[in-house]
Amino acid sequence: MSVSDSNALFEDLLSSAARLSFDPRNPAVYERGVEDEWSHGMTPEWSPLYGTAMWDSMSEAERSRLTTSEVAQFLGVAIWLELGLQVALLRRNVSSDPARPDVRFLLNECADENMHSLMFVNAISSIGARFYPRDASFTLFGWLFRSFAWAEVAYGITLAGEEIFDVMQRDWMASENVVAAIRRTSYIHVVEESRHMQFARRNIRDCLAGSSRFRRTISSLFIAIGTHVIAKSLINRRVYEDLGLNWRSVKREIDGNEHHRMMFRKAAEPLIEFLGKEGLLNGGARWIYRKSNLL
Ligand SMILES: [Fe+2]
Ligand SMILES: [Fe+2]
Repeated sequence: MSVSDSNALFEDLLSSAARLSFDPRNPAVYERGVEDEWSHGMTPEWSPLYGTAMWDSMSEAERSRLTTSEVAQFLGVAIWLELGLQVALLRRNVSSDPARPDVRFLLNECADENMHSLMFVNAISSIGARFYPRDASFTLFGWLFRSFAWAEVAYGITLAGEEIFDVMQRDWMASENVVAAIRRTSYIHVVEESRHMQFARRNIRDCLAGSSRFRRTISSLFIAIGTHVIAKSLINRRVYEDLGLNWRSVKREIDGNEHHRMMFRKAAEPLIEFLGKEGLLNGGARWIYRKSNLL
């Protein structure tokens, strides 16, 4: 791909953003649906506990409370990623020519990401849930990513987060048993993120064009580590303790839950396929993805 091909794509993405973008400050996005009383925070199948003995022993009201707290955790991770990727990508472009098509698209993407984070905060407060603090190890990983991720690694970890949420939110937006605010915000996110994913994929290809095997090997490992951290951060013991559940029992149930592993593999499928095509899936990276239940 030549620079002019990439620039043409970035210009297309910018005009697509001008044609189809949403304003999540509109209160209608968070209006309650008539069915909300009985609804889930996210498609129940995405709950890491779905299908376990613990899940089976819960009443429908308890399951609904569980998925409502879990979606707050998942979207809290989404906000963490949206803020972190902006720092990582903007700092690489502070001195770039701001008129370059890729820099202009990045500015548009950051505007989207800020609106998404605000949208997720509004959605979580509208369904009566709250965000949970994260472990110090994740805070450290976040700082390492923002400070040191280079070119394809920054775009690769960004893409990993976007791809995983894309798969999950396609389900959430289409599930009739999910609260209206989460269905609507998932739809908005899926539409706007499809441009971000094209942007990230093209940037990864451009960064790697003509690069050495050694660099690809190192970059694939760091992308895999970043993706592993994202997957691990989705499950937070505080969510379960807050609901009065015993964390050790919850962890045992989740660790033994083949359904949960299958859903995580499904979430990572498009990402893994892309990485495979781009030569970013060596033996070490595969081992890490298997450890994270993503392969
Ligand atoms: Fe986003
Ligand atoms: Fe994004």
